[in-house]
Amino acid sequence: MRAKATRGPLAVAATALLTVTALVALPQSTAHAADTLGSAAAEKGRYFGAAVAANRLGEAQYAATLNTEFNSVTPENEMKWDALEPSRGSFGFGNADRIVDHARSRGKSVRGHTLVWHSQLPGWVSGLGATDLRSAMNNHITQVMTHYRGAIHSWDVVNEAFQDGSSGARRSSPFQDKLGNGFIEEAFRTARAADPNAKLCYNDYNTDGVNAKSNAVYNLVRDFKSRGVPIDCVGFQSHFNSASPVPSDYRANLQRFADLGVDVQITELDIEGSGTTQATHYGNVVTACLAVSRCTGITVWGIPDKYSWRSSGTPLLFDDNYTKKPAYHAVLSALGGSAGGGGDPGTPGAACTAAYTTTEDWGGAYNGKVTITAGSSPINAWSVNVTMTPPQKVSTVWNGSPTWDTSGNVMTVRSSWNGTLAAGASTTFGFTVTRNGGSTAPPQLGPCTAS
Ligand code: G3I
Repeated sequence: MRAKATRGPLAVAATALLTVTALVALPQSTAHAADTLGSAAAEKGRYFGAAVAANRLGEAQYAATLNTEFNSVTPENEMKWDALEPSRGSFGFGNADRIVDHARSRGKSVRGHTLVWHSQLPGWVSGLGATDLRSAMNNHITQVMTHYRGAIHSWDVVNEAFQDGSSGARRSSPFQDKLGNGFIEEAFRTARAADPNAKLCYNDYNTDGVNAKSNAVYNLVRDFKSRGVPIDCVGFQSHFNSASPVPSDYRANLQRFADLGVDVQITELDIEGSGTTQATHYGNVVTACLAVSRCTGITVWGIPDKYSWRSSGTPLLFDDNYTKKPAYHAVLSALGGSAGGGGDPGTPGAACTAAYTTTEDWGGAYNGKVTITAGSSPINAWSVNVTMTPPQKVSTVWNGSPTWDTSGNVMTVRSSWNGTLAAGASTTFGFTVTRNGGSTAPPQLGPCTAS
């Protein structure tokens, strides 16, 4: 194990703590933390969605989890070309409609996925010559978007049009090969005409960090913006595993696209793994999105692991029995929410929020960081409960003043020198936890209390 950093004056000793408890008296009136992914994201002005399969909506636990936790939905397969227009000019919207109706009747927004993609493309499309293909593409976009006009928040107009690797070249597809580079622009112009109020996205994978492929997409978006070609958003699929981890420049990459004047969305998030490692990666993805003001929402690519397109990698937030995984708790916490909610539900907006991330992990011990952010008013002091799963024990705390409950598992951390925050401003405190051979669960945060 690597040596642990000791970053602050507050080595934890019960005797020292007695002296700080009297320093800050906090009214309890301002606490309110959202207790679902969707509501926590909404408090941050974002959506939190899931890819959904129409044939699972009849399963009680599936529907209950979807209905409770998510405020956005993406049909996983039901809006693809082979599902909607299996033969030329013959459209079938049944399964897609079922998802859209389910979502919209419960106040959830819908992402449309996807209009022009080389995969899940019926054979009749690939067989067309250029003139017919152009008209089939424009007709498909127009018919589908007209059917759903007003019901779709964002459309993935074109999906995965670039090659992997270092070339930055376009991927070979019927559209690219027969219509040339201009097919993407044509698709976006047709889409804007069909539903002027839907946000129009380009969506791809392996574009999550700065690399040749994301540079190629970046150049496309920059060109579109400079020439007035309609584009509103870029989707970053974010399918991660050990071979394709969350890139260290993830936030910076999202930001550079946002700086072009488009929204960015995390559209198909899943991260293979388990336990604290997976939880940490998920928390970091959420934190990156929250750090980019134009990162407007996150969609995970499925609900329970067993229905994932790569279920053996257990990449989602709920296990096969719909139990919330550590990754779920890390996401909720990073969103500023808290399991079990609590506080005063009538309070209009929290006066402060708390978000947890694991910053270092050595196996036997780890460092945690909590970011405290003031709400729409300045605050003078803050407090948050941090609950450890036994036999985990906190060994050191910095930039905050801790006290413990009698079980020794719940630590209340109050501001020390860093209680005064302007509206919307943040500070952090940190701590080291030893696992003592036990649970890998991350700590749970209670609601942030401010005065
Ligand atoms: O519906 C048929 C069923 O009737 C048939 O018996 C069965 C036999 O294989 O196949 C079923 O269709 C499958 C479909 O999922 C619905 O379950 C397809 O074979 C299967 O290929 C398809 O996989 C989907 C995949 O896209 C296709 O490329 C995954 O569910 C879906 O999660 C995945 O999603 C993509 C995004 O659209 C784009 N980005 C990458 C992402 C992951 O690959």
